Amino acid sequence: MAEQVRIIVCGFGRVGRSFARLLEAKAETLARDYGLEIQLHGVGELEGSVISPKGLAPAALADYFETHGGLGGHPEGGRPEWKGIDLIREAGAGLLVETTPTDIRTGEPALTHIRTALGRGMHVVSANKGPFIRHYRTLQAFARDNGAALRLSAAAAAALPTLDVAQTCLAGAEILAIEGVLNGTSNYILTEMRKSGRSYGEALSEAQRLGIAETDPTLDVEGHDTANKLALIANVCMGADLLPEQVGRTGISGLTAEEVHAAGEEGRIFRLVGRAERGPDGAVRARVAPMGLPRDHPLAAVDGAEKGITYTTDTMGRVTVVGGKSDPKGAAAALLKDILNIHRAPGAARSGRYS
Ligand code: HSE
Repeated sequence: MAEQVRIIVCGFGRVGRSFARLLEAKAETLARDYGLEIQLHGVGELEGSVISPKGLAPAALADYFETHGGLGGHPEGGRPEWKGIDLIREAGAGLLVETTPTDIRTGEPALTHIRTALGRGMHVVSANKGPFIRHYRTLQAFARDNGAALRLSAAAAAALPTLDVAQTCLAGAEILAIEGVLNGTSNYILTEMRKSGRSYGEALSEAQRLGIAETDPTLDVEGHDTANKLALIANVCMGADLLPEQVGRTGISGLTAEEVHAAGEEGRIFRLVGRAERGPDGAVRARVAPMGLPRDHPLAAVDGAEKGITYTTDTMGRVTVVGGKSDPKGAAAALLKDILNIHRAPGAARSGRYS
């Protein structure tokens, strides 16, 4: 018989609802291959929440939200006055899925949600960058003290495995530098400009239609999203203390189709690259900028909305991972992956050189 895991979700935006749909679509696989039944006991939103001790039908709940624009009036356990924090305190769940909108500066409300859940011994998987850029190590220590696991793949390039590779596959090696194509929207735009001759504006509109771009796409094209992800990954994997505002940043909005095309003619491919490197003084410095990469560079092969990351290590050489969907489904799949990995290796979920 499958083990039951009671979960709650805070934040029912595109990623939260994609996660709910994925949970339902994968229910059979989870029971058969992982011996796990993930029961959705509640969803918290700013404008009201829903809770049901019997468990909620995840996809129907996503449909309900899309029809009604909220959850507080749900016939089966709607709580118009409840926010996510009430749900964390009252639902008696074993795991929190945190997908509220990211506030990079304060980390809130996710930071309070995560601290509250961990303090109650709940495991947490999060798609939120804000809390971890500034507080990753203290939150990991807090999780450990409370016997809980904390995983954040969905916040760190989501479907592209970044933290898992560094913490598990490169364990024992020192990461000397990280180079990444970490923003699907920018990469999609640059690829479309080069391959189909589309203008910057046309390619951006298409990225928005595909649901890849942020609500405010300047976060993508001006390099903020790349800087946030780079700071987060460097802090987790290199023991750095970078803040996004310390990452030098140039976006892609100044690149013309002619420049992108001309680079292609010379055998170079423009990518928006984030690079973090440990200097001789031991400090990690980082910057984000468009770079014309030679065709044989591993990140030159990262086309369309895919992403890629290259770790340069002391003992394992250069290791590159490429791929991963940039859309909400990819982020939802990263949340599910973290839940499964907590379930089957709770010790591994909490160990790490910089945690
Ligand atoms: N807007 C991001 C991207 C996805 O284009 O990669 C979320 O980080």
